[in-house]
Amino acid sequence: MMDRRGRFGSRIGVILASAGSAVGLGNIWRFPTEVGRNGGAAFILVYVCFVLFLAMPVMVSEFVIGRASKSNTVDAFRVLAPGRPWVLTGLMGVIAGFLVLSFYSVVAGWTMHYAVSSLLGQLSAGHDFAADFNAFISAPWLPLAYVAGFLVLTHLVVERGVQNGIERYSKWMMPLLFIIIVVLVICSLQMPGARAGLAFLLRPDFSKVTWQVVLSAIGQAFFSLSVGIGCMITYASYFGPRMRLAPSALHVCLIDTMVAVLSGFIIFPAVFSVEGLSVDAGPGLVFITLPNVFNTAFSHIPMVGYAFSLLFYVLLLLAALTSSISMHEICTAFIHEKYGLGRRVAAWIVTLACLLGGAACSLSFGVWRGITVGGMGFFDLFDYLTAKFIMPLGGILITLFVGWQMQRSQVMDELTNGGTCSRVLARLLYFLIRWLAPIGVCTIFINGLIGH
Ligand code: PFF
Repeated sequence: MMDRRGRFGSRIGVILASAGSAVGLGNIWRFPTEVGRNGGAAFILVYVCFVLFLAMPVMVSEFVIGRASKSNTVDAFRVLAPGRPWVLTGLMGVIAGFLVLSFYSVVAGWTMHYAVSSLLGQLSAGHDFAADFNAFISAPWLPLAYVAGFLVLTHLVVERGVQNGIERYSKWMMPLLFIIIVVLVICSLQMPGARAGLAFLLRPDFSKVTWQVVLSAIGQAFFSLSVGIGCMITYASYFGPRMRLAPSALHVCLIDTMVAVLSGFIIFPAVFSVEGLSVDAGPGLVFITLPNVFNTAFSHIPMVGYAFSLLFYVLLLLAALTSSISMHEICTAFIHEKYGLGRRVAAWIVTLACLLGGAACSLSFGVWRGITVGGMGFFDLFDYLTAKFIMPLGGILITLFVGWQMQRSQVMDELTNGGTCSRVLARLLYFLIRWLAPIGVCTIFINGLIGH
């Protein structure tokens, strides 16, 4: 069984696939939304601290668990701590993978629609973009068709396996993504609102840092780095023995944070360039505010607005795809290995289940608006349950597992590749995993639960 598992073929493949999982709608759609709502630079500073000291240790812990066990998220805990209830952590991760992919496909579906509309030149001046967006997301069929389309794309990559699917596609999608980002940043910095946009992003106002901001920042850090639900456990189970875990995690965190901040560099100068648009437009920021920007800011230069808009939504779509394959893989690997089904069959089961979950989320903006659980429709419920609940809880459990359940020698062995890499870095990380991350995340988590 073990040696029939897939494996990443190269170091760069590992970094690009893991960074591909991390970089997604979370960076380009969710991060600017949160920055806009929570006061700009101050939020970014808190966020970066959380990435380094809380989320990165969780990522390293997931790498340790994945490579030491060479198993899917659930079996990983069973292999490393037989007969103990830790498997529930893995099971929670698989369920969360399904929940995240369900609501993620909805936003990815909107992105696909906006990419197609850009291509067809339908995002042109004279539209009421807010009304268009609301009409689109509340319609019953069209958004659903896009959810299905996006899930099938994800499925096609996952079905091909680790090296031929995930690694191969990440290897060309990620560089393409970087090129598009750089082009868009350069364009955005030419806009009249560049100075105001940059000031918003770079000048912190610490009076804005409330408890609420802290909570949003930790949720965003975990979501953006894909940690807390075993996604990185699954990927690390395909790492080779020579892969250096700590530097890889550091690279992934750096790339992810860089892309998030660069997305701010794309979006805020653009938003500040058009009078009357606001930075705290919430989730509609990239679907309502940006089409306005593309049209107004470039109205005097033909085709530039068109190209900018098309590039932007293609970028968002590619980013969503490299992330969705990782969520899909958490569930597919589990079903494939646990029930001995073929990879293709397992992948279809996941795709169809997510289609149902995605349909529930999509319809919660339209005909199912009235159906709520705890005051939330399915979309908000799935988002809340995963980003604010399961991911932080998973992060606490995963770091406790590596810091307190696994043998120190085994963890150090993984962190130093059997003593061949830096012990200093390994010791520092071990301290963060054992003490700072669980205590830090737990404090924020409990306060969050009480506050809600
Ligand atoms: N990190 C992804 C993003 O920023 O869009 C979202 C994500 C991927 C969350 C994979 C969870 C996961 F397991």
